[in-house]
Amino acid sequence: MKIRVNGLVHRVSASSDTPLLYVLRNELHLIGPRFGCGLAQCGACSVLLAGKEIRACVTPVAAVTGKAITTLEGLPALWAKERKKATSAPALHPLQQAWIDADTPQCGYCQSGMLIQAADLLSTTKHPTEDQIRVAMNGHLCRCGTYPKILRAIKQAAAVMAKEVP
Ligand code: FES
Ligand code: FES
Repeated sequence: MKIRVNGLVHRVSASSDTPLLYVLRNELHLIGPRFGCGLAQCGACSVLLAGKEIRACVTPVAAVTGKAITTLEGLPALWAKERKKATSAPALHPLQQAWIDADTPQCGYCQSGMLIQAADLLSTTKHPTEDQIRVAMNGHLCRCGTYPKILRAIKQAAAVMAKEVP
């Protein structure tokens, strides 16, 4: 079967009920999404499916054929598309830059999923309130307790993105 990931179509050999997460990591070698709980409880495995966050650990690969999947690795190109500057892709999505500026990760394990969820939020809510950010991020667990820095980083990225794409 074929799946579309980060703008490229890939032929994959996994059986149709294989979790998308395994296909991304083991066949496509995209290691942004991580295995945490395997039960849709932690968010470490999150990717965007047609722009909305899903849990790749419980999503069979057959369920995503024909739809656009974006992983952490595809966020810069996604941002370039939003800015309509696809030919000059920025090195980083504003969320990734804000994450760096806020010195957000500790062990880093949860952070890919956090960034994906934040990208989903900011694609529909350009000026989120603190409460909206907390609600959106509520399903993602960070055992290192980086939540305050994540909150700060999302606010910074939202400001940058709203300026560029009002
Ligand atoms: S690994 Fe998918 S939600 Fe935890
Ligand atoms: S940074 Fe360690 S789990 Fe979140």
